[in-house]
Amino acid sequence: MRTSAEARMGMRVALTGLAVLMLLQSCSAYKLVCYYTSWSQYREGNGSCFPDSIHHSLCTHIIYSFANISNNQIGTWEWNDVSLYGMLNALKTRNPNLKTLLSVGGWSFGSERFSRIVSNPQSRKTFIQSVAPFLRTYGFDGLDLAWLYPGPRDKQYFSTLIKELKAEFTKEVQPGTEKLLLSAAVSAGKVALDSGYDIAQIAQHLDFINLMTYDFHGVWRQATGHHSPLFRGQEDTRSDRFSNVDYAVGYILRLGAPASKLVMGIPTFGKSFTLASSENRVGAPISGPGLPGRFTKEKGTLAYYEICDFLRGAEIQRIPGQQVPFATKGNQWVGYDDPESVKNKVKYLKNKHLAGAMVWALDLDDFRGSFCPQKVRFPLTNAIKDALA
Ligand SMILES: *[C@@H]1O[C@H](CO)[C@@H](O)[C@H](O)[C@H]1NC(C)=O
Ligand SMILES: *[C@@H]1O[C@H](CO)[C@@H](O)[C@H](O)[C@H]1NC(C)=O
Repeated sequence: MRTSAEARMGMRVALTGLAVLMLLQSCSAYKLVCYYTSWSQYREGNGSCFPDSIHHSLCTHIIYSFANISNNQIGTWEWNDVSLYGMLNALKTRNPNLKTLLSVGGWSFGSERFSRIVSNPQSRKTFIQSVAPFLRTYGFDGLDLAWLYPGPRDKQYFSTLIKELKAEFTKEVQPGTEKLLLSAAVSAGKVALDSGYDIAQIAQHLDFINLMTYDFHGVWRQATGHHSPLFRGQEDTRSDRFSNVDYAVGYILRLGAPASKLVMGIPTFGKSFTLASSENRVGAPISGPGLPGRFTKEKGTLAYYEICDFLRGAEIQRIPGQQVPFATKGNQWVGYDDPESVKNKVKYLKNKHLAGAMVWALDLDDFRGSFCPQKVRFPLTNAIKDALA
């Protein structure tokens, strides 16, 4: 017969087990939302990225960018999208918990076309009705809206679009299918947030918000600076006080986004500048954007794998207070994220009880594991995943 002490012990073990189980469940509840861009397939040599190079359990959600809108209906963008959709959605056979979303819009699509379609009730209806059948046909679990960015006149229509899409998704559910997910990529700039979004309204109907907490600093500032600092810098002028992750997160929460729906963006790219003098500190004068990367070939932006190449022989420093690194070599200056900075960002978002992290973009991480010293595939995304666990 068991003594009462033994019984108490048994109970304590059982309770501890339960607590561990609950802890595990709440840990795995963080979202890791990862964007993949279809144009990354065209980068030359080892820069070329297809969805089948993504590990099936790296992210909880993968968002395919971008879809087009043609004759007011959602449609493909690339000639081989259907084959790439298949590659991506095939990852779900090995990870049934993985969710995939299709993102519509983007920079090349532009804001005006969205504006035209969405402000007209008939074309908006045509668009909304085209979405679910398209997603179901290709095996996606949801839609991401990448309207970059709605303006003051679009604010109300953007809310209406989201509300009506949600209603359509609710109506569309059949026994045996899950309701389609709805997310939106939202600007982290204070001016854009104020002018184009009714955050409290849209947050009600969205499953989650992907906050684009990067691109805060660019050549328009005519000086070096980090594009995704966690905190305000010591030298930041008054107008710069909004240009950091902490401000944007705090602001959108104050505007009414629930923390449980807020997914914080972490970039796997850096922003680079060409220095105008021998000064290479934060705030040093620049003559323009940095040189294009060997693979991404765009002035002022470098993929993390290109940064790993750049770091050989570069001088690396961390910005006190902002908790992010920058590197300089010759007249080139790049502000970027590394495993240490992304771990700090994850620690921050966990403290704020946010829904998780968003990565832009998988194809800019060292997806082959051949460029960076870690020699693992997706070193930055994996560092985020580990920190979330
Ligand atoms: C791609 O990477 C592999 C492994 O690092 C290397 O052997 C190969 O030369 C690279 N290919 C090109 C075209 O650079
Ligand atoms: C997207 O749709 C528009 C409108 O039909 C069309 O003009 C454009 O060529 C399409 N874009 C691509 C990349 O197919």
